[in-house]
Formats: sequence, structure tokens, C-alpha cells
Amino acid sequence: MNQEKRILCIGAGYVGGPTMAVIATRCPQYRVTVVDVDETKITAWNSDRLPIYEPGLDDLVRSARGRNLFFSTDIRRAVKENDIIFVSVNTPTKNFGAGAGMASDLQYLEQVARMILEHAESPKIVIEKSTLPVKTAQALERILGCNGHGVRFDVLSNPEFLAEGTAIRDLENPDRILIGSRETDRGIKAREALAEIYANWVPRTRIVTSNIWSSELSKLVANFFLAQRISTINAVSAVCEKTEADVVEVAKIVGMDSRIGSKFLNASIGFGGSCFKKDILNLVYLCQHFGLPEVADYVESVVKMNEYQKERFFLTMLTAMFNTLAGKRVCLFGFAFKADTADTRESPAIFVVRKLLEEKAEVIISDPKALENARKDLSDVNGRIQYVEDPYEAAAGCHAIALLTEWDLYRELDYRKIFSTMSKPAFIFDGRNVLDHKSCFDIGFNVFPVGKPSLTHFA
Ligand code: UDX
Ligand code: UDX
Repeated sequence: MNQEKRILCIGAGYVGGPTMAVIATRCPQYRVTVVDVDETKITAWNSDRLPIYEPGLDDLVRSARGRNLFFSTDIRRAVKENDIIFVSVNTPTKNFGAGAGMASDLQYLEQVARMILEHAESPKIVIEKSTLPVKTAQALERILGCNGHGVRFDVLSNPEFLAEGTAIRDLENPDRILIGSRETDRGIKAREALAEIYANWVPRTRIVTSNIWSSELSKLVANFFLAQRISTINAVSAVCEKTEADVVEVAKIVGMDSRIGSKFLNASIGFGGSCFKKDILNLVYLCQHFGLPEVADYVESVVKMNEYQKERFFLTMLTAMFNTLAGKRVCLFGFAFKADTADTRESPAIFVVRKLLEEKAEVIISDPKALENARKDLSDVNGRIQYVEDPYEAAAGCHAIALLTEWDLYRELDYRKIFSTMSKPAFIFDGRNVLDHKSCFDIGFNVFPVGKPSLTHFA
């Protein structure tokens, strides 16, 4: 097929890679290029071992790569050759200077803008794919506006709502595609050019357009709402544990109200991932910046509740195990921040491991996909941790299992066999409420779910 249309994405990460793989698959008439400053990552995208694990991604990349999907480090050439440019570089929480610990670090975004400016020879549509503070588009426009050779730039906001582990499904069948633009003739024309790409597979009714600030803000607000639900149900889990109510029953009952809905009501050890904490703190910083301290405090409470939930989970372990973990072997089932991903960014498991080590426990980490990332996250304390992929081997000789990621495989293990190899009394702390607690108890375990009565064999 003639690929006369071209698209570029700068940033080959969790968002850029899968998004472009889906666009390339759904739009064979487009030639899609993905560039990144990280050479190792690009080599991996061009190999059989992709840099990220995402169900369904391998097949898409295998079929489109070399046909209309290309991975490269030649950013300069790519900018010259493409007029529709997605920017999907990371925007981590700033760890220095004003707003440290809260504001977004926009240095990579700005570097990319300057690079586009330097190499562009024809008009470009520059699309913010990364999640950004409101008004970032204005900064981009101002930087891109400083060009001597009269090239025109239009900036659009097109935030990504995919969740890791279900990225391909989310991209192929999105609830909505959001495109924000300036409401000028040019802005609307640019918006239409982008909508046309998505319209290859997304019904027009799901392509929503808005002014550019609503678009930037909506992404932060969507993540705030989702994370807020988790913090709310996690707060309720603490009340359940004190009252013998069962958070799973409460969530089911509450979620049956169609005004509330049933999704994102799983009590857990707390949310992780690269987005929730970063984006919510970003929103907090914006509120402070705009002189809205009460709003800032309200938003921040969602993150504080999440920190509390992680701490509470750890304290439950410590108290249940007679207030001492020194020399005890604790096995973690799961290290990724959720199932079906190798991603460990902001995973609650990182917090739990560090707390266990402070208590001088021995830690054995098991995970089907995330051990490589776990080793990197814990590189400063690696000497004190064992990494064992096989869960049976990992749990053998341990005093406790803490289930931290809801991988399907953990539901299906033979817990009778595991129990027989563990030190007694043996404990299970189910940070995801996915095990059959009664049957684990019947086997002999002392079981501590989240937000449900514990089941112990002690008088
Ligand atoms: C990123 C943002 O963090 C998130 O806020 C946004 O919603 C989507 O984009 P993600 O794809 O998960 O999320 O980030 P990451 O996997 O770190 O990928 C970013 C890529 O950009 C990295 O591969 C990095 O090497 C690359 N990059 C960064 C560049 O190519 N150029 C730069 O100047 C900086
Ligand atoms: C999230 C948003 O869902 C997505 O739209 C946005 O673009 C990026 O941030 P992601 O971080 O990939 O996606 O995963 P998500 O499925 O939202 O889970 C985030 C965290 O919340 C995980 O640690 C998960 O285990 C936890 N979670 C989720 C709960 O603890 N309980 C729930 O009910 C749901």
C-alpha cells in the first residue's frame, strides 16, 4: 500500500510504543516512525525482545515493523520527514528546585520542542501525548513560535488513557479519544487532521474535541477520579478491619448503585504505577500555584491515603508476626505495580521490601515478569534479597507470604504443597484479596486479607 502519509512519535516508552504499534496496524496507509534518545531501547524495539511486556504487543509489532512501523534514533531526520509529531517523552515529578516532589519536570519536553524547532523545514502539528500540567501547550507554542525561518506549528493536546497490561485493548477500543486545540481556524484544522487518523478505527462519536486547556486538565482529573476511588475504598478497608465488615461485600453493594458503578473499587495494598501519584501531585501543585490551597489539600489527601494504606499493610504484617521480623524469611508474591506488566514504577512492593529490610527480615521476591526491574529498583540493597521466579521455590522455608500483585498464577497455586514447605506458624498477607482465604485457613495458614476479618489459628 502507498504510504504517502507520515507520523512520528518522539519517545518509545510504555505509551509511545504501543500507541504507534496500534496506529500502524490500523492505518496501513501511514508510515509510522518512533524515535527515542535511548539507543538500547530502540535496539530492543527492533529485536524479538521488546523493551516492555504488554499482552498482544509482540504480534502487532512483528506484523507492522519494517512495513509501516519503524524504530530509530535518528531524531533529526525524522523531524524533517514528518509533519505530524506526537511527543510522548517522560514527564516525571521534579526532584529539584521550585516545586520539587510535586511539579512535573518538563525539561525533556522542552528539549524536544527545541529540537523540533531546530530541524523543522515545513509546517508541523505537534501533539502532546505525555500528561502535562495545564498551560503547557502555551509554553510549547511560545518556544515553537521563536523560529526565524517562518515555519508554522500547531500544538494539540491528545492525552492517552490506556492502562498498562490492557494497553492494546484500550487503544483498539478506547472509551474516548480526546483532542484539544486552540479554537481558531488553524487549530480546528489541525485537530481534524489528527481526528482523521483515529477515525480509521474509532467511531466518530467517541472522538471528543475540546479547548486545549480542558484537554490538558481532563487527563489529570481522570487520573484523580480513578485514584480517588481506590483511596476511598482503601480508607473504607481500614474501617472494615475494625468493624468486621467485609470490604469486598461493601464495594459490591456500593458499586451496584448505577450512579457509582463497580469499577476501580478493589481495596488493595495501594495504587502504584507511573501516573497516579505523579499526576495527582502535579494537580496539587497547580492548585497551589493558582492560589487554591483548600483544593490542593483535598486533592493531596488521595496520595496521603495511599501512603497510609501501604504503611498499614506493613504494620499488619509486623503485628501479626509477633512484632518481630528480624531473621524471618518473607516471600513476596508479585512485585509489579499490577498484573500483566513488568513495570514496577511506584510499585507498593518497593515500599514493603524496604520496610521489611529495616526490620531485618530476609526477603525473597517472586514475580513472573518483573524481577529484572525489581533488581534495578533495589540495586542499593540487592545483597540482602533473593530473586526466585518459581513461587514454590521462593516460598519454601519462609515464615510468610505477602501477595502484592494479582497475577492469575498466584490464584492457581497448590497452597497445601506450599504450606508443607514453610516455617510454622505460616502467614499469608493478601494485599489484593485474590486468594480463597477460607481454604488457605483450612490448610493451616493464618490469613490476613485487606479490609476483611483475619483468619487465624491462635486462641
Ligand atoms: C510518558 C509520561 O511519563 C507520561 O506522563 C505520559 O502520559 C506518557 O508518556 P511513558 O511512556 O510510560 O509515559 O514513559 P517512558 O516509558 O519513560 O517513555 C518515555 C521515553 O521518552 C523514554 O524511552 C525516553 O528515553 C524517551 N525520551 C525522553 C526521549 O526520547 N527524549 C527525551 O528528551 C526524553
Ligand atoms: C492509569 C489509568 O488507568 C490510565 O487511564 C492512565 O492513562 C494512566 O494511569 P495504569 O497506571 O497503567 O493506568 O494502571 P491502573 O489499572 O489504573 O492501576 C493503577 C494502580 O491502581 C495499580 O497499582 C492497581 O493495582 C491499582 N488499583 C486499581 C487498585 O488498587 N484498585 C482498583 O480497584 C484498581
